[in-house]
Amino acid sequence: MNIQIVNWQLKLLDKLISKEIGVSIFGMGYVGLPIAVNASETLKNLIYGIEISDSKLQLLKSAKSYIDDISNEELSHAITNGVVFTNNVKEAITNSSISIICVPTPVDNAGFPNLQYIFQVAASIASEIKAKKDSHIVVLESTTYPTTTEGEVNQIFVDAGLLLHQDYELCFSPERISPGDKSFNLTNIPKILGTTSDDSYQLIKYFYEEIIGTTIVKASSPRAAEMTKLFENIFRQVNIALVNELAILSEKMQIDMFEVINLAATKPFAFLAHYPGPGLGGHCIPVDPYYLSYIAKKYHSSTNFIDLASQINSQMTDHTIKLIQLALNRVNKSYTASTIGILGYSYKPNIMDIRNSPAIPIINSLKKLGANILICDDIIESNPLLTTNDLDYVLNKSDVVVIITPHNYFDWTKIMNNLRPSQPIVDTRGVIPYTQFRPIDVGLGRPIDEYQF
Ligand SMILES: NC(=O)c1ccc[n+]([C@@H]2O[C@H](COP(=O)([O-])OP(=O)(O)OC[C@H]3O[C@@H](n4cnc5c(N)ncnc54)[C@H](O)[C@@H]3O)[C@@H](O)[C@H]2O)c1
Repeated sequence: MNIQIVNWQLKLLDKLISKEIGVSIFGMGYVGLPIAVNASETLKNLIYGIEISDSKLQLLKSAKSYIDDISNEELSHAITNGVVFTNNVKEAITNSSISIICVPTPVDNAGFPNLQYIFQVAASIASEIKAKKDSHIVVLESTTYPTTTEGEVNQIFVDAGLLLHQDYELCFSPERISPGDKSFNLTNIPKILGTTSDDSYQLIKYFYEEIIGTTIVKASSPRAAEMTKLFENIFRQVNIALVNELAILSEKMQIDMFEVINLAATKPFAFLAHYPGPGLGGHCIPVDPYYLSYIAKKYHSSTNFIDLASQINSQMTDHTIKLIQLALNRVNKSYTASTIGILGYSYKPNIMDIRNSPAIPIINSLKKLGANILICDDIIESNPLLTTNDLDYVLNKSDVVVIITPHNYFDWTKIMNNLRPSQPIVDTRGVIPYTQFRPIDVGLGRPIDEYQF
């Protein structure tokens, strides 16, 4: 490895090579906790997992994981490796030379980016490195709009009286994990680094390659890396909107959209399958595009694709309600006095994350229409909304069964066999083969005879 680094960064490289470097990771959530657990394997007694929530800290300290991708055993092993879960920023920064920021980047009610979590952490790091009088590398992994790292975040360090390149270097490195995905994880998803200097690039590259164990892709700047993350998520948002729109058209035209997607996917190039569904969910796809729309306005540009995709995707709640209505009509029932069984509540299969789950607005709408709701989701451990985890009970008591989140543990053949002849299923995910549909069953993106909407 050919590394040419000067001054304080050489010292830092020495610490990295000898595996004696302290690293503070801010935000022990879906992104930060896996990094802390992974890094603690190599940097024993040198990883600080900083978390502001007392309840999460208590769980972490007692080795109880609340993140799908980290088991209690892995957490316990990390604690044995000396990872320190704390809210003491001073202690963490005093013992660290690298900080990684993995705090939330939500939008407010008006759809504007809320960067307060990042700003708060950046300010506390800046103040501690100023007090410590030692140089530091800060990596931002939270998703944000282009210019955040070199703009607002850098300004926080400047305002603290610190000098870029001398007292600190900055890097934006988007997190690209997909929680619950068993094929891709921290170590086999290439990591993009956009740094404020080439020297710091070499150091941060060394950290992610040698400590975390991943491969690196160099971005020419933090803003190129920031844009890349948003582009990846907007690519999904726009393609999901396209397939949602075509799914609704296909229902009317007596075409099975899932068949069409599978047929199109046989093209060996220039096609990537996306699937229709009851609405977007999670912390990324429904949120991140707004970050680009926001900053585009500041550059007097529009983001028409994003706006149109948001509009189409947000219609999927109402469309799902209409599909349920159709199923009820087919068995001469109405919402009032009917019980709707919802299968799956989290925002995507096999994980317990319920943030922005499409199930939430669908259930709220159904309740407003007077329906009684039973929810079945064995993956989610504790949620007051869940009415039961007993699938047999839900199947027994429901007038209509609606598939929202198709967890692997659901046995669709068994479920179909257990349905009563007058009990329709509404499949919003294309998991029941269309050939198994009975005349009363309804599927998003599947042909609908009496299309009346
Ligand atoms: N979840 C994903 O799949 C995913 C994937 C890629 C990128 N991202 C991005 O990564 C960032 C983090 O997402 P997440 O899903 O891990 O969020 P999360 O809510 O699961 O975790 C963030 C954690 O940060 C903590 N926190 C907030 N302020 C803090 C502070 N001042 N000091 C210490 N801890 C603080 C919160 O209590 C929370 O536990 C977001 O920008 C998100 O868009 C998420």
